[in-house]
Amino acid sequence: MTRFGLTAASIVLAAGLATQAAAAEKLNYYCSAQEDWCQLMARGFEEATGIKVNMTRRSSGETFALIKAESANPKGDVWWGGTGDPHLQAAEEGLTQPYISPMRGELHPWALAQAESAGDRTIGIYSGALGYGYNEELLKANNLPVPACWKDLLDPVYKGHVQMANPNTSGTAYTTLATIVQLFGEEDGFAFMKSLHANINQYTKSGSAPIKAAARGENTIGIVFMHDAVKQAVSGFPIKVVAPCEGTGYEIGSMSIIAGARNLENARKFYDWALTAAVQSRALEVKAYQVMSNVAAESSPAAPDLSSIKLIDYDFALYGSSAERKRLLKKWDDEVSVLPQ
Ligand code: G6P
Repeated sequence: MTRFGLTAASIVLAAGLATQAAAAEKLNYYCSAQEDWCQLMARGFEEATGIKVNMTRRSSGETFALIKAESANPKGDVWWGGTGDPHLQAAEEGLTQPYISPMRGELHPWALAQAESAGDRTIGIYSGALGYGYNEELLKANNLPVPACWKDLLDPVYKGHVQMANPNTSGTAYTTLATIVQLFGEEDGFAFMKSLHANINQYTKSGSAPIKAAARGENTIGIVFMHDAVKQAVSGFPIKVVAPCEGTGYEIGSMSIIAGARNLENARKFYDWALTAAVQSRALEVKAYQVMSNVAAESSPAAPDLSSIKLIDYDFALYGSSAERKRLLKKWDDEVSVLPQ
């Protein structure tokens, strides 16, 4: 009896420990990059560590909103990918937590600058310039001129031919709004967005959707990160990529550990792993042509050459601040999205 009792107790104990071990060996991973890249990272981490990854893929603004909504009872551990601005806003609002990775010495200065401006609550994982792409067959079929500048997109000949995402959900579209405001000033920038609105056929949820639609022949021009347009072009679709003549903004795609992460050690393991050159080089397998933050990560000759693009001095601290992001989004909601088309 005693012996049986002991055995039962040890079974209960062992089961308890096993449950704890299982609980420790998982990672709740929020991803805001392209679905195929998100999957590659999730499966790659599982293979490398045996830690089970539960992935949720949403656009940058949506993931920010999710983490904020869950902040009293956090469900996510690590947020990887998506534009830097909402990661900076999350840092400022205390929704993410500081971490100093031993991988830092291998990163480009711009990736570290992102960490510095956020009290180490986020870090740069990739960078890419904004622009647009067009379907050259549709352009020809519709007798449309070849656009080269931001302002070309305001020409009424493009009515119904331009697509971008909604800046509330999409980091790409928020980067577009902030870029236009920085290029032309707030007044002229909003005048630009209103005039562009007249040519927009749809505001999508996800940032890259407009160029995927163009690749499928369902849309003519998509305002997206240039690397997203390149991906469609190298995949064989009739897409041409434009670096707008006035100059353009760019993103520092980021990664953050969520405040209150339940699987903190695994989140840190993922974070360190995701910053290695070997893992970042795997982006090429899914045609993700951003510039990676690890200086030794491989790049492709197909990737947009950032040094040949006129980049603005994007003010990440200002446009990633909670007050400014909220203000610009509200202004766009109130003054642009409500206009008739
Ligand atoms: C694409 C790009 C990324 C970017 C992300 C933002 O996945 O390849 O470089 O960070 O879009 O997504 P969102 O849907 O928030 O615009």
